[in-house]
Amino acid sequence: MFSSTALTGSKPEQYAQLLAQARSLLHGERDRIANAANLSALVYHAVPQLNWAGFYFFDGTELVVGPFQGLPACVRIPLHAGVCGAAARTGQTQRVDDVQAFPGHIACDAASRSELVVPLRHAGALIGVLDLDSPVPGRFDDDDQAGIEALAQAFVEALA
Ligand code: SME
Repeated sequence: MFSSTALTGSKPEQYAQLLAQARSLLHGERDRIANAANLSALVYHAVPQLNWAGFYFFDGTELVVGPFQGLPACVRIPLHAGVCGAAARTGQTQRVDDVQAFPGHIACDAASRSELVVPLRHAGALIGVLDLDSPVPGRFDDDDQAGIEALAQAFVEALA
């Protein structure tokens, strides 16, 4: 049985502990739905001030919602739309301090104010995105971005 322990220390230290917990959850398991489900729950409960944390997977045409924690979300997101689409299209992490100022932002939960979306690539191909939303404007900083990018990388490596 997995048991999470409270994160302590600086933000980079906390993300290092979270990464260790993620690696222990992912260990020996390649199923992407199982891993995405557990990582969503881990992140949502460990990272403060989130109202949504989860995955969208690329079906070859658009992004389709996968395992997540938070309110029910938009099912399909075209690559030309939203913060998630921008991350998928550009291959670059999108960190948006004010989603209301982001052209084309898709408001799945009206409470969302800032967003962090990390693209997921496996063997050179887009497989989806990891998306975190917060009701707090400017919630995500460099430490959050580096920490969540490391978790996303661990997720991708577990698929190999
Ligand atoms: N806000 C996202 C859509 C997904 S929800 O936040 C869960 C976007 O603009 O792509």
